[in-house]
Amino acid sequence: MAQSYLFWRKSADSWRESPLDGPKLRRHLGAWSLMLLGIGGIIGAGLFSLTGIAAAHYAGPAVVLSFVVAAVGCGFAALCYSELAGMIPVAGSAYSYAYATMGELVAWIIGWDLVLEYAVGAAAVSVSWSSYVVSLLREWGIALPARWTANPFDVVRLADGATAHGIINLPALFIIVAISGLLIRGISESSTVNNVIVVIKVAVVLAVIGFGIPFIHAANYHPFIPPNTGTFGHFGWSGIMRGAGTLFFAYIGFDAVSTAAQESKHPARDMPRGIIGSLIVCTVLYITFGIVLTGMVNYHSMLNDAAPVATAIDLTGQAWLKNLVKMGIIGGFTTVILVMLLGQSRVFFSMARDGLLPPAFARVHRRFHTPYLSNLIFMVLTGIMSAVLPIRQLAEMTSVGTLLAFIIVCGGVIVLRRTEPNHPRLFRVPGSPVVPALGILVCLAMMVSLDTLVWIRLVVWLTIGLLVYGFYGRHHAFRN
Ligand code: ALA
Repeated sequence: MAQSYLFWRKSADSWRESPLDGPKLRRHLGAWSLMLLGIGGIIGAGLFSLTGIAAAHYAGPAVVLSFVVAAVGCGFAALCYSELAGMIPVAGSAYSYAYATMGELVAWIIGWDLVLEYAVGAAAVSVSWSSYVVSLLREWGIALPARWTANPFDVVRLADGATAHGIINLPALFIIVAISGLLIRGISESSTVNNVIVVIKVAVVLAVIGFGIPFIHAANYHPFIPPNTGTFGHFGWSGIMRGAGTLFFAYIGFDAVSTAAQESKHPARDMPRGIIGSLIVCTVLYITFGIVLTGMVNYHSMLNDAAPVATAIDLTGQAWLKNLVKMGIIGGFTTVILVMLLGQSRVFFSMARDGLLPPAFARVHRRFHTPYLSNLIFMVLTGIMSAVLPIRQLAEMTSVGTLLAFIIVCGGVIVLRRTEPNHPRLFRVPGSPVVPALGILVCLAMMVSLDTLVWIRLVVWLTIGLLVYGFYGRHHAFRN
């Protein structure tokens, strides 16, 4: 009996109807907007903060190869997302693909797991957003009260030199509320804001690359792959893999394009363009950025340098670039938060549409055509996390949650090719099942390279999810 619902699968077509259907999401997004949405979700904290860390601690100049390895893993996953997003063009993304391929239990686990990627990810990035805004305002002579820009777990230095615990991170809360308001207002408004900021942040990355190239010293590339120190993950090839596991965070975001499938004008055609296009653009930018940064600043000196990107900009002598980069980073963080909160609301929207979560998450606004209650609920939950939790450590949770989703999506392609071979596919992963299987392997390798603590947290989170499913989801699912 238990088996009958735990492994119950939706057909690839049954996503169209739900007993809860009222006003629909608005189909507004074309291929360009989807691609810019992907870039909006991808370029953020990862590029600017993790490149230096991965080079200094794990890979040296070969951090460029770490970028390539992470891109290859993401590329396999992006191909698989593209095939499934075209076939099952529904807001639930990996959750819905799992429902169609591996059954309700796996679907639930992935839907629940995606909270780590989207809601926890948005909260983590909002904390970084807050610290950059505070620092930029300080440079402009505006000092925000320190205790109101930090969570209660962090200790801050006050104006008189004394130290005290933070009260609440108000700027982080502010950006979550502002972005949620924008998302509730409409998909076209959200997409327009995203498009403008993405153009600015790509220009900033290009400026750093362009002004940096003349200051590259070939000597900084020797040795290109520093020999392993004897510890796994510290330079050498294992270091390149460890670096890839770290830099994977920088690529997260292209998958969120698939959560906009129900808001895309031509999902079967444009989903692959948005997903693969955004990943290609960012891969080229990242690799070039890695080459320039490690050519300008020796990886040894990055060990004691909290902000190697700032050091690189100092070398160019272009002081004005520093503030511009800060603004680019803040803009970058803003669209990452936007795309993640969008993804989160759409995944829970789909789960509620299937009856696995309370119907409030599936309620669509009559005028704005957005899942406004889902947005509001996550505004409160993510807002609380960003305001009072030391969330930065949880960035790794975002990576592990995403990697698990990628593995399920790659597996889903293999399964669906067998169970629904005749379903129309405008985009097909080339070389299946080898390519999806390679996707699973590379993502598994990156998962294994993460800390044990991250795994423990993942298991705890999924256990809580199974309890929610046991008490609510399994009793309320619409299975016909
Ligand atoms: N890829 C996103 C970032 O780097 C999550 O901020």
